Amino acid sequence: MQDVTTTGFLRVIGRKGAPDWFVTEYFRVHESSTPEKHIVDSILNHGTGRPVFAQLIGEDTPHMVRTIRSLLTLPVAGIDLNMGCPAPKVYRKNVGGGLLRDPAKVDELLGAMRQAIPGRFTVKMRIGFEDQRHFDALLALVAKHQVDLLTVHGRTVKGLYWSEVDYAAIAHAVRSVPCPVIANGDVATADKAERLTAETGAHGMMMGRHAIRNPWIFRQWRETQQGLPRFRPTLGEVRAYIQELVEECCDQALAPEKQAGRLKKFLNFVGLAVDADGHFLHEMRRTETLAQLLGVCDAHLLGARATETYPDEPYRGLIARPTRETQQGCEL
Ligand SMILES: Cc1cc2nc3c(=O)[nH]c(=O)nc-3n(C[C@H](O)[C@H](O)[C@H](O)COP(=O)(O)O)c2cc1C
Repeated sequence: MQDVTTTGFLRVIGRKGAPDWFVTEYFRVHESSTPEKHIVDSILNHGTGRPVFAQLIGEDTPHMVRTIRSLLTLPVAGIDLNMGCPAPKVYRKNVGGGLLRDPAKVDELLGAMRQAIPGRFTVKMRIGFEDQRHFDALLALVAKHQVDLLTVHGRTVKGLYWSEVDYAAIAHAVRSVPCPVIANGDVATADKAERLTAETGAHGMMMGRHAIRNPWIFRQWRETQQGLPRFRPTLGEVRAYIQELVEECCDQALAPEKQAGRLKKFLNFVGLAVDADGHFLHEMRRTETLAQLLGVCDAHLLGARATETYPDEPYRGLIARPTRETQQGCEL
């Protein structure tokens, strides 16, 4: 995830019970692009012991191939193509989710990428741009070009991040392509991951925002699958997670207000499960410095509440990004 899946965040997640693999923030590919250094750093230095796929966003075939050659010199598990980003500034350039309007272009691009990638080639897509009119054609192209794994975010591009997820469409993808399919979109808890595995037939689940809120989600799902008691973090442990975010994700060289701004972006998600009335979110958003912000965290997560269990699910009615739950797209 853009601005989220940094080296530091991967390290933090790795310590909480990492998923089976990670996907990087997307590398933007155009005429004059070179792989962004901070994303390369996340591939080289995440230290989780888990495989990492490098994700690309672009449509210019020769430059996609050039970038793939360069990324294949790094220790990546494979190359992933983004066909889902819904930000207008992205899809208007016919990249990310914009590609879903143009099966002929997707045919050309997948063909060229397949040729350039001797190892694992994966695709992440939504179910369509504004509707599912090209979904079957796109799934047929995934099969034609022998994509090794497909992740389906069960929304259209126009559905952004909050329309209802169409899990039946994901089940349809599972039946339509020969490769494994990973389901994505609002997989909020280990229980839901279990239920959706049965319902969709998907080979796995991808968690995005829910892993920011609950970095133990992968561990919890693994425990559920193995019939083990599920780890239940306390609010005190959530406070310790926040401290790790400060240390790993907030550049200490930045001014305290900037560090607070960075941390708030993560806390917008964490805060969805701190209290039902949204007091934590309200207070933390009004702080200015890192010290004030951590003071609010202490007040809500430590003291008498430190041993309370952090709920699996967000409280209903709370919104993570009030100013960004609009047409902004893939940015924290
Ligand atoms: C801040 C943010 C950044 C994202 N960046 C990317 C990205 O770079 N590549 C990508 O494939 N998806 C990206 N996504 C989409 C997520 O990977 C995921 O598909 C989507 O949020 C739905 O899953 P969730 O309900 O588990 O979050 C981003 C989402 C958010 C909220």
